[in-house]
Formats: sequence, C-alpha cells, structure tokens
Amino acid sequence: MNILSKRIAWIVAAGGVAILLLGIAFHVVVGRPVATPMSANVGGPFTLVNHEGRTVTNGDFAGRYMLLYFGYTFCPDVCPTSLSTIAEAIEILGHEGRDVVPLFISIDPGRDTPEHLASYIRFFHPRFVALTGTTEQVAAVARAFRVYYAKVPEESGDEDAYMMDHSSIVFLMGPDGRYLTHFGHETSAQEMATRVASVLKGAS
Ligand code: NI
Repeated sequence: MNILSKRIAWIVAAGGVAILLLGIAFHVVVGRPVATPMSANVGGPFTLVNHEGRTVTNGDFAGRYMLLYFGYTFCPDVCPTSLSTIAEAIEILGHEGRDVVPLFISIDPGRDTPEHLASYIRFFHPRFVALTGTTEQVAAVARAFRVYYAKVPEESGDEDAYMMDHSSIVFLMGPDGRYLTHFGHETSAQEMATRVASVLKGAS
C-alpha cells in the first residue's frame, strides 16, 4: 500500500466507525426499550380516562386487538409521524382491521386533558381512542409496557413549554390483552398493515 491508499483506507475505516457509532446512538435515543427483548410480559391491566372523559380499563378492549402508541400531543415530530402511520395502516387494513383499535396513551397527563386529546386525535383517524389519566395511572401503564418517558428540563423559563423524551414503539396487543408484536419508529404503514393482517389471519 502506498501512503495515499493507506490514507484512503483510514478515512474509510474512520467513516465506518462513525456511522456505526451514530447508528448505536440513534438506537439508544429512539428505541430505548427495544434493548430489552420484548416478551409476553409486556402490557397488563390499566385504568385510564379516554378523550370523552370516561374512565376505561383494559377490559373495555377485551376481544379486540390494540394498536397502541405512547406519546404526547405537544410532540413536534415523532408522535404525529407515528400516529399518521397507525392511521394509514388502519386505512390499508380496511374492513379486515375492524377489530383493531388504534390507541394513543399520553405520557404527558399534565397537559393532555381529555378535551385536549379529543381535539388532537380526530386529526389522525376517527377511530382513534386517546387515553390519559392521573400521573400515577399513566406511570403504571407505561411501566407495564416498559415505555420510557421523561420531562426534558425547560431552559426558556416557560414552565408549560417543556418537551418529553419518550420511546417510540407501536405495540400490537391481542384480544386477550397479551403482547403479540411491536413496530419500531421506522416501520412504514404498509409494512405495519401487512404484519397486522398476517397476525389476524393466523388467529382466524
Ligand atoms: Ni413524541
């Protein structure tokens, strides 16, 4: 190897390492809970309040599939993208997906009141059910699903302008409330619909 090709080899190697590190960093931020393998013990009973202000439990969804996402309405980018993907997947599934309930659980109950959720969620899909609750109720359901969330300290001094750091995963839960599979943030609507449809076919 001459000096020039050695230099090029170094640049290529350094570039490869940088891409690898970026990939790892991205995974740590976006897919935090995926680091621990998903299993049947994800999920569980919950008591929350829906966007109509009514108390609901996991029992209200018994017999139906849940396509479930945790986030918050003030989220600038990640949540709207995920909710649009779910909505589109529901549209693609059409009649086949009639037993699949798209669910949005807020991890920001301080700002996400039922009224606020109602006006937000209808922009995504008329069948969406949005849930919130007390701080404790939300903490309990997030814990059951191993969903990470945390308030990002606000530097501007405006206490209501804070952001939430949170994991971005769509869970598919079965009619018995058990975990079936999950989708990462990068999953397309078509891919989600195809995988949900194959689960539904397998069950019938
Ligand atoms: Ni978000």
